[in-house]
Amino acid sequence: MTELHLWLRHEARTTERRTPVVPDDARRLVENGVELTVEESPQRVFPIEEYQAAGCRVAPAGSWVTAPPDAVVLGLKELPGEPAELTHRHIFFGHAYKGQPGAAGLLRRFAAGGGTLFDLEYLADDTGRRLAAFGFWAGYLGAALAVLQHRGRLRAPLVPTTKDALDETLKPAADDADFTGLVIGALGRSGRGARAAFATAGADPTCWDLAETRDLDRRALLAHDVMVNAVLATSPVPPFLREQDLDTPGRRLRTLCDVTCDVGSPLNVLPVYDDTTDWDEPVRRLREEPPLDLIAIDNLPSLLPLESSADFSAALLPHLLDFGVSGPWGRCLDRFRQACREHGLDEEESLDH
Ligand SMILES: NC(=O)c1ccc[n+]([C@@H]2O[C@H](COP(=O)([O-])OP(=O)(O)OC[C@H]3O[C@@H](n4cnc5c(N)ncnc54)[C@H](O)[C@@H]3O)[C@@H](O)[C@H]2O)c1
Repeated sequence: MTELHLWLRHEARTTERRTPVVPDDARRLVENGVELTVEESPQRVFPIEEYQAAGCRVAPAGSWVTAPPDAVVLGLKELPGEPAELTHRHIFFGHAYKGQPGAAGLLRRFAAGGGTLFDLEYLADDTGRRLAAFGFWAGYLGAALAVLQHRGRLRAPLVPTTKDALDETLKPAADDADFTGLVIGALGRSGRGARAAFATAGADPTCWDLAETRDLDRRALLAHDVMVNAVLATSPVPPFLREQDLDTPGRRLRTLCDVTCDVGSPLNVLPVYDDTTDWDEPVRRLREEPPLDLIAIDNLPSLLPLESSADFSAALLPHLLDFGVSGPWGRCLDRFRQACREHGLDEEESLDH
């Protein structure tokens, strides 16, 4: 029996309906001796009553700030701006180790309070493979939105939905023209999701991964109607598309969905736009004649909060049951220590727990 006290917090971002632990997995945690407190949250896709029925304690939204010191606070996305000092152990996506805006400020808050960040992005096995990720649903949505746009059926603003409802809109209608699709990064999580959505839409896309882009054929790329980029770039490679490629005579490409969304990064393989799109305005026209539309939304899985939460929670559950300072969690801790050092923060202070 573990003595872990987990505190599932309300997400500060109002559009975030996902959760890292769904009620069925909350029950498994409780059955295994984990004390689980769940904050009330008006937008979470699962009602608080389901957590209560699973044996969890209920606490008001945002009350993690006064949680017992030994509680491990669990969430997905950013913390609210207060308090200035973070005293607890936190598990969430901190986006704080690659020089992102706000990274230094977040680490400083941890150092000031003596708290610790276990960043979910770095929860990985000993080969570096991530253990819990939302990639599949990002790719699924990316391809689904691209197909809907291509068929003239994408409606804005986008709102969270369910896979069944989405799939209904994806089924090809009798008067839908055939199109050719391309998925790059096709062997990864997002790539597999994109392929699955194309299949639901009745399309069989060309699939490229590392082997097919090593000697990149941009003409072949531009000969597809719809392209979904789902690569995880770890070192700079020649861009898949450059500005001048968009004006290639005979370009067939009409709809481009960048699931990767590395805009502004030196690793960006699609330096043909300079800002992401969003739920209110999901599509930006990059060229008029012939048209080329871009979709580059960086929070795609939030559009399918139920399915993406269930998958993520199932992947995270065994690791929560095994929470500690060795194995994957130990590696998260090492990465946190390294980031603190890189920012010249007092490690001793921030690692007392
Ligand atoms: N937009 C969103 O909402 C959203 C959500 C989740 C993840 N993502 C992003 O999606 C990307 C993919 O994530 P994932 O979980 O699928 O990663 P993954 O590691 O499972 O898969 C990435 C794939 O890209 C391939 N790849 C890498 N470099 C390549 C290249 N130069 N040419 C061709 N293929 C290449 C890899 O071989 C791998 O198959 C990441 O950048 C991630 O941050 C975006």
